[in-house]
Amino acid sequence: MIPTGTTRTAAVIGNPVRHSLSPPIHNAGFRALDLDWVYVAFDIAPGRAADAVAAMRALHLGGLSVTMPHKADIAASLDRLTPQARMLGAVNCVAWDQGELVGHNTDGGGFVDSLEHETGTAVSGRRCLVVGAGGAARAVVLALAESGAAEVAVLNRTRRKAHAAAELAGPAGRVGTVADISAADIVINATSVGMDGTGGAGRLPLPQDQLRAGQIVADLVYHPFTTPLMVAARAAGATVIGGVGMLVHQAARQFELWTGHAAPVQAMGDAAAAAIDAHA
Ligand code: ATR
Repeated sequence: MIPTGTTRTAAVIGNPVRHSLSPPIHNAGFRALDLDWVYVAFDIAPGRAADAVAAMRALHLGGLSVTMPHKADIAASLDRLTPQARMLGAVNCVAWDQGELVGHNTDGGGFVDSLEHETGTAVSGRRCLVVGAGGAARAVVLALAESGAAEVAVLNRTRRKAHAAAELAGPAGRVGTVADISAADIVINATSVGMDGTGGAGRLPLPQDQLRAGQIVADLVYHPFTTPLMVAARAAGATVIGGVGMLVHQAARQFELWTGHAAPVQAMGDAAAAAIDAHA
């Protein structure tokens, strides 16, 4: 749809932001539903999130996605935060609610949606092991606990951070050990190990011999599309999901907050896959 005088604008703010996959994902969603919306990317310098929020108010932007380095800073400029955004200290989405700007975090919920959608398995009652304790891991730990996981163990290179992440899961959370990997129903890699373009490319984030048939193994890394962990987990007989699903489902939750329409997840996922292919 060609933009007109009534077109609503949504955007991602970040630095850098030029390789963001969010514009193709959201624009594919708007197109699939024939919505009069457009989604663009704004490169906002570190420390200038407040200016971006002022611009959102002045321009009446329909929605914002927030990525590095603004996820923590932006909170101070918003009218309210959801409990998840407050607990995580991180906002990845800003949406209007009755004239107020609300900071959300859709990352963890997006992961659980992706897992349940792709495997047909509910998180409730499952033993989960999260490898990593950074921003993505923390969002996943909180969402697993909120979805009723029986246990959320966190394993991380830096143990102090594992402890802080595990606390987000309340009574279900604890610091894990390598022995927890084979005992878990669901194993999630939330580190950057295995990601192309990093020192961890081609490597595994956990010992391969701990993986077993019957588990679900999720890798949040989506570049490459199929990671060394996914190959190893498949060889062990596990059910495997990659990171594109979380990317798409966290975007789908944002789309729904802004537009009020159920997100066309298939179209958004196809656009994500095509954009990743184009970057490869
Ligand atoms: P994100 O926001 O994407 O989650 P992050 O906050 O930088 O990124 O977190 C990266 C995670 O990957 C951390 O858990 C980090 O471990 P540390 O807390 O010990 O730094 C983990 N990570 C990165 N490189 C790693 C490596 N080579 N080996 C093990 N863990 C690694």
